[in-house]
Amino acid sequence: MESPPLNLREFEELARRALPKMFFDYIRGGAEDEFTLRQNTEAFQRISLIPRVLVDVSSVNISTSFLGYDLSAPIMVAPTGQHKFAHPGGEVSTARAAAKCKTIMVLSFSSSCKIEEVASSCNAIRFFQLYVYKRREIAVKLVNRAESLGFKAIVVTVDTPRLGRREADIRNKMIPPKISNLEGLLSIDVDSQKGGSYLEQFASETFDPSLSWKDIVWLKSITKLPVLVKGILSTEDARKAIEAGVSGIIVSNHGARQLDYVSPSISVLEEVVKAVGGAVPVLVDGGIRRGTDVFKALALGANAVMVGRPILYGLAVEGEQGVIKVIEMLKNELELTMALAGCPTLKDITRKHVQTPADRLR
Ligand code: FNR
Repeated sequence: MESPPLNLREFEELARRALPKMFFDYIRGGAEDEFTLRQNTEAFQRISLIPRVLVDVSSVNISTSFLGYDLSAPIMVAPTGQHKFAHPGGEVSTARAAAKCKTIMVLSFSSSCKIEEVASSCNAIRFFQLYVYKRREIAVKLVNRAESLGFKAIVVTVDTPRLGRREADIRNKMIPPKISNLEGLLSIDVDSQKGGSYLEQFASETFDPSLSWKDIVWLKSITKLPVLVKGILSTEDARKAIEAGVSGIIVSNHGARQLDYVSPSISVLEEVVKAVGGAVPVLVDGGIRRGTDVFKALALGANAVMVGRPILYGLAVEGEQGVIKVIEMLKNELELTMALAGCPTLKDITRKHVQTPADRLR
């Protein structure tokens, strides 16, 4: 590709060329048949837009707030591990980009840069994503560290009692993550005789498969920060999360990297939003590649969206600048979509602006 990328898909192609195959496959891949991975984007394509005309859109405002923090747009950075696989600047570069774009970055537990390093690198609004390991004291220590470093919320990922089967990683003998935050807290030796994905071996030694709803109550008891749950796909679990006292729900299938054949997150968003009934804000991620996708998610009731892989592709191609370009592209596309759909503000985006496959059957 000679000319600069015009959209997020072109960033993906450039990242494919820039990265060693093992790392590109790790970022791009999903679980097993990658059915849900394809559906995550295709489900957006099955939703059509219904624009309104002759609305004054001479000024379009995409700014919003989330949990009381002002954002330039309802687009946040999803937690993804090991940014140094994409670029030597790692999570520090991503956080700087998020700060410049005035959005929230959710720093992954599996960050390749230390939480302290990310905190001191810029003044981005940051949330910390937590995996709960068998050794619970690690969660306590990391949550305390995040809190004292000015992180604003804990996002606990609940769809990973074990790692999903990612066949590209098995084939590539994917190396285990280097999680800087665990230095001095935990060291896991992987068995090089076993073959397969070392990442998977690492995960099975560490993740706590006994994690359950009572632990959300425990997590809330060890921090003053709001706790959000990431990985909800059913109305039942959304209700349980509210009962457990969470401050936000993230509708997510982990970018289709955990259980294959689950619904695309955008397809279950509306029913989860209905079950939540405004009790707490709802975010969605998975397959968002265009401003029109952001618009569709907002029309179906999300307060904001999170973006995973495209951020890493931007980082791989151009470091901090690449991440800024990816976020700005999405913001510009959202702004144009709103103008063309007759929505000068985010509040003007309604359910009537989209038609889902279910609507067409009625
Ligand atoms: C992830 N995701 C993820 N989620 C999480 O809670 N903790 C993590 O450490 C990671 N790590 C991670 C690494 C990579 C390479 C990817 C692609 C994804 C999932 C992530 O937060 C998000 O749910 C999805 O990436 C959203 O889908 P899209 O935007 O990538 O389609």
